[in-house]
Amino acid sequence: MRVTVIGTGYLGATHAACMAELGAEVLGVDIDPDRITALSEARVPFYEPGLDEMIRRHVGSGRLSFTTSLRRAAEFGDVHFLCVGTPQRPDSGSADLSYLFSAVDGLAPYLRRTSLIIGKSTVPVGTAARLTERLRRQCGPDVPVEVAWNPEFLQEGTAVENTLDPDRLVFGVSSDFAEQVLRDLYADLIARGVPVVVTDIPTSELIKSSANAFLATKVSFINAVAEVCEAAGADVRKLAEALSLDPRIGHTYLRPGIGFGGGCLPKDLRALRARADELGVGHALRFLGEVDEINLRARERVIELAREECGGSLAGRRVCVLGAAFKPNSDDIRDSPALAVAAALRDLGSEVSVYDPKAADNARKQFPDLDYALSAADAAQGAAVVLHLTEWAEFGELDPAAIGEVVAERRIIDGRNTLDGDRWRAAGWRYRALGRNV
Ligand code: UGA
Repeated sequence: MRVTVIGTGYLGATHAACMAELGAEVLGVDIDPDRITALSEARVPFYEPGLDEMIRRHVGSGRLSFTTSLRRAAEFGDVHFLCVGTPQRPDSGSADLSYLFSAVDGLAPYLRRTSLIIGKSTVPVGTAARLTERLRRQCGPDVPVEVAWNPEFLQEGTAVENTLDPDRLVFGVSSDFAEQVLRDLYADLIARGVPVVVTDIPTSELIKSSANAFLATKVSFINAVAEVCEAAGADVRKLAEALSLDPRIGHTYLRPGIGFGGGCLPKDLRALRARADELGVGHALRFLGEVDEINLRARERVIELAREECGGSLAGRRVCVLGAAFKPNSDDIRDSPALAVAAALRDLGSEVSVYDPKAADNARKQFPDLDYALSAADAAQGAAVVLHLTEWAEFGELDPAAIGEVVAERRIIDGRNTLDGDRWRAAGWRYRALGRNV
C-alpha cells in the first residue's frame, strides 16, 4: 500500500518509519524544508532511541521518502495520515487546529481518486467531522474522500516500540471500507494479537483525549497525596508502592515528584476541558482544572523545599539542576517541569547551572540565560543545593562522594523520588525528597 504521513514531528516521523517497517511504501510530508532535507538524508532532527536506524534502513531501501509537496503526496498515496501538531492556543486552553486545516486544505485540491484521510493527531472531539466538511467542500462530488481516526498512544523515548507493539489499535470509522483499509495497514500487528477497538469517529477522538487526561489525573493524584504525606510525616513512595500492588490500581503513573510535562499531557488536559465547556458539559470535567493546578504546584513545592534547605533564601546561591528534558530518554523540553523550576530559580536570583545528557541544546534555545554544563559534576561546582529534576538513569549512578567534593554544600533534593537516599546520606549528604519525611 502507498501511504503518506503528513507532519514529521515525533509522531509523524515515527509513524512513517513504522509504516515502512510494516511493509507500506511511505512518503513523509512536512512544511519545514530543513526537516525534510534532514530526514531524506536519514538524519532524525530529535532524539528518539532506535528511530534513526529504522529511517536509515528504509530511506536506503527506497521504501521511505520525504517531500514538502502536498501535490506529490496526493499523487503518491491513496491513504493519507495526518500527524501534524495541535498545540495549545496561547489565549485559551483549547487546541489550535490550524496545522490540521492547512494540511487538509493543501491536499484537497490535488486529490483525484478515492482517498482515505486518517487522523492520528490528538484532537478535540468533533474535529474529524469538521475536516470531512472541509474536504467535501473542496473536493467536489467526483472525488470520494473519507476521514477516519486512528489515535496514537506512543510515548516519547519508546515511540518505535510502542508503535510496533501497541497495547491496542483504535479505529474510528464510518464505513466498512475505512475499517478494511486500517485492518490491511496493520495486518501484521493484528495477526500478532494486538487488540483492535472499532468504533465511531467521535468515540475514537475522545478515547485519546481521555487516556491522556486519565494518566495526568493519576500523576496529580499521587502528587496531591504527597502533599498530605508531607504534612502528616508519611512517605508517599512507600504509599505508592503499596497502592500499586493492587491490580485494580496498577503500578504506572503513580511516581510522585515534580509532575507531568511534555507536549501532550498538559495541553491535552486543557483542550479536553475546553471542549467540554464548548459542548456545555464543562462541569463534568471541572476537576481537570484541579489536576492541572496540583501539577503546577509540585514545581513550586520543590522550589520551596530548596529554599527551606538553604536557610530561607536562594538569591545569589548556586543551584545545580540535574535534568532539562520533560522526562528521561528524550530531548523534548516542551513544558518541562525541570526547566520551569530552573527558570523560576533564576528569577529568584539564583545562579542556575543545568546538566542534561540530551536536551541541553533545545533548552539553550528557549532559556538562553541559564548556564549549561557538560556533566553533572560541572553543574554541581560550588552548588549550595543539587536538584534532581529529570530521572535520567545516569543520575542514579552518580557517585555521591565524588560529587560531594565539588559542591559548596552537600544537599540534594530528589524531585523525582528515584534516587537511593541512603547512598547519598552515607556520603554525608542531606537528602530530601518531595512527599516524604526524609
Ligand atoms: C503521553 C502518553 O503517555 C502517550 O500515551 C501519548 O501517546 C502521548 O502523551 C501523546 O499524546 O502523544 P509522553 O508525552 O511521551 O506520552 O509522556 P509520558 O511518558 O506519558 O510522561 C508524561 C509526563 O508525566 C512526564 O513529564 C513524566 O515525567 C510524568 N510522569 C509520568 C510522572 O511525573 N509520574 C509518573 O508516574 C509518570
